[in-house]
Amino acid sequence: MRIDILTCVPNLLDSFFAHSILKRAQQGGFVEVKIHDIRDYSTNKHRTIDDYAFGGGAGMVLQIEPIAKCIRTLQSERNYDEVIYLTPDGELMQQRMVNQLSLKGNLIMLCGHYKGVDQRVRDLFITKEISIGDYVLSGGELAAAVLSDAIIRLLPGVLNDETSALTDSFQDNLLAPPVYTRPADYEGSKVPEILMSGHEAKIEEWRYEQSLKRTRERRPDLLQS
Ligand code: ADE
Repeated sequence: MRIDILTCVPNLLDSFFAHSILKRAQQGGFVEVKIHDIRDYSTNKHRTIDDYAFGGGAGMVLQIEPIAKCIRTLQSERNYDEVIYLTPDGELMQQRMVNQLSLKGNLIMLCGHYKGVDQRVRDLFITKEISIGDYVLSGGELAAAVLSDAIIRLLPGVLNDETSALTDSFQDNLLAPPVYTRPADYEGSKVPEILMSGHEAKIEEWRYEQSLKRTRERRPDLLQS
């Protein structure tokens, strides 16, 4: 998989991809992440990429030319399955959507800023608009980082058996059960006996019951879908 992220603050994302699982996923050749500075595609000598909104109003709008130039350059080099725009008015991100995206080959993610991008970028280039939640961030970078992380950890080989994504919350519409590690007794607060019984089938059953209980208490909506 290859993910190209278009942003006007590339530094915000550089360090995010340089650590932990995301770093290993890239080093292991499971994914290639390229971050592009939209400013590099500016068509004027001042390297500006935004302008006032037609019709007035507060806030600058990202212009179409630099973004179009960047997307067209990338599309001339390879085919992309989706050109995603991260925006609070997009489709709400869910595990199901992430699973589907993890099966794709090449993705472009465009991060908005200021008052957003010129509507024509969305009309002409964007194939999918995604929101990571009903709140407004100051830019799409964190949203692109969240989406990339959720996708990359699902790529075969990125996680080992122990960290397998199959037991994640949401994969089966259930929240994950509680987990414990040593010590078995912390100042009188004990680990449930069953987990130390060595009885695999009973442990599985306990975990399933705990998942169900947690989901009923915290996210009953998941059980209805
Ligand atoms: N940009 C600003 N807020 C956002 C959100 N909630 N989701 C995706 N992109 C955004």
